[in-house]
Amino acid sequence: MTESVKIVYKDRIYELPVRTGSHGEKAIDISNLRDQTGFITLDPGFANTGSCSSAITFMDGERGILRYRGISIEQLAEQSSFIETSYLLIHGRLPTVKELQQFSVLLNDNSLVHEDMRGFYQHFPRASHPMGILSSMVNALRSFYPVLETTDEEIDLTVTRLLAKIRTMAAMSYKISRGHRVVYPRPDLSYCANFLNMMFDTPVMPYEIIPEAVDALNVFWILHADHEQNCSTAAVRLVGSGRVNLYAAISAGIAALWGPLHGGANQAVIEMLSEIHANGNRIRPYIDRAKDRNDPFRMMGFGHRVYKTYDPRARIIKKTCDRLLAKLRISDPLLDLARELEEAALKDDYFIDHNLYPNVDFYSGIVLRAMGIPTNMFTVMFAIGRLPGWIAQWKESMDDPNWKISRPRQLYTGPTQTDYIPIGQRNL
Ligand code: ACO
Repeated sequence: MTESVKIVYKDRIYELPVRTGSHGEKAIDISNLRDQTGFITLDPGFANTGSCSSAITFMDGERGILRYRGISIEQLAEQSSFIETSYLLIHGRLPTVKELQQFSVLLNDNSLVHEDMRGFYQHFPRASHPMGILSSMVNALRSFYPVLETTDEEIDLTVTRLLAKIRTMAAMSYKISRGHRVVYPRPDLSYCANFLNMMFDTPVMPYEIIPEAVDALNVFWILHADHEQNCSTAAVRLVGSGRVNLYAAISAGIAALWGPLHGGANQAVIEMLSEIHANGNRIRPYIDRAKDRNDPFRMMGFGHRVYKTYDPRARIIKKTCDRLLAKLRISDPLLDLARELEEAALKDDYFIDHNLYPNVDFYSGIVLRAMGIPTNMFTVMFAIGRLPGWIAQWKESMDDPNWKISRPRQLYTGPTQTDYIPIGQRNL
C-alpha cells in the first residue's frame, strides 16, 4: 500500500503520496501540491528538497556513508582506478576487462586538444584563475565538436572527449600560464600518470613518474567523482534541463564548483593554514573567530550540508596524505598544523554542537601540494575528479521519463501593483 501524509489547512485535508528510497528514506511527493492546494513550498538552500530520484550515489550524512552505484567509497579508493570508477558512475556497473581496455584506448585516442584552442589560452590575462579558464574552454569545446548528442553513440563520443580532454586542457592552462611549452599526452601512460607528466615534464627536467603520486591522484579523483545533488551537480542538472549541450552544462558545473564554500574550499584551506602558519601557528584566534557570529570567517574545510559526522572521504584522504608524505619524505608544517587544528576543533563545544567535522577539503590540499600542484589549480583538480559524476547525473536526467525543465517558484515579497511615474514627476 502506498504511504501518504496528510496536510490539514483550515477545514480541508490534502493527501500527498510518500516515496521510499532504497534504504527506506522517505520523501513527500509534492509534485501535485500546487494543483491540489494552491500552495508552493519554501526551502531556501534546498536543505529539505529532493530535486530528483537518482540511482547513482548514496550518502548517509549521519553515519558517514558514501557509495557509488552501491559500492563503498572505501572499497573503490582501495581497489579501483579513477577510470574504472568513472565507467561505473557513467554506465551504472563495473566494466569487464575488455570494456575497461576499450575505454582506456578511447580516452587515449581523444586526449589531444585542437591546436586552434591553444590560441585561446594565450589571450587570457596571466593572472586569470584556472577555473575561469577551464569553464570557458570546456564551453568552447562545443564549437570544435558540434556533434549533437541525440544518439547513444554521439553521447558516448562527447562523454569520452570530455573525460579525455579535460586533463589535457587543465595541464595546458598551467603550462601556458607559466610560459612553458605544452606537453602532449602519451599513449604509454595511464590517465593519472599522463596528467602529472603533462603538468611537470619539461625539456630541461624530464618528469619521473612517482607511483605513489599516481596512486594518491587516483584516490583523490575517486573520492571526488560524485557526491549526489551538491551545488555544482545541481547546476549541471538545472542548466542541462534546458536541453543545452553537455559541454555547456559541464561548463556551468565548473563555474558553480569554483566558489569557496564548495570546490574552492581546498584552495581556501591551504590559504587559511598558510596564514595561521605565518602568524606563528596560533590556532586559538582562528577557532574563536570561527565561533564568532559577528565574524564572517569560517573554518575552511570544516562542516558539510549532509555529513553531520566525519566525512568518509576526509578519513581516506587523511590516510593517503600520511602515506604520500612519508613516501616522498616530505615534512609539511601545514600538515602538522592541520592535525593540531582538527584536534582542537573536535574538542571544542561549538564544533561539537554544530556537528562540524573536517570535510574532504581539509587534507586534500596537502596531498596536492605534495604532488607539486600549485594552489590555484586545486579546484581544477576537484573539477577533473567530479566530471564523471556530473556526466552520470546529466545522463540520468536526460533519460528520466519524468523529466521537466527545472524552474523553481518563489514567494514574491516586493511591492504590489504600482503606477509608473514619469521621470520629471518623481519626488525622490
Ligand atoms: N566554521 C564555522 N562555523 C560553521 C562552519 C565552519 N566551517 N560551517 C558551518 N558553521 C556554522 C554556521 O555558522 C551555522 O551556525 P549557526 O547555526 O550558529 O548560525 C551552522 O554551522 C550551520 O551552518 P550553515 O551555513 O547553515 O550550514 P550549511 O549546511 O548551509 O553549510 C557549508 C555547509 C557551506 C559546507 C559550511 O559548513 C561551510 O561554509 N564550510 C566551510 C567551507 C567548506 O569547507 N566547504 C567545503 C564543503 S565540502 C565540498 O563542497 C567538497
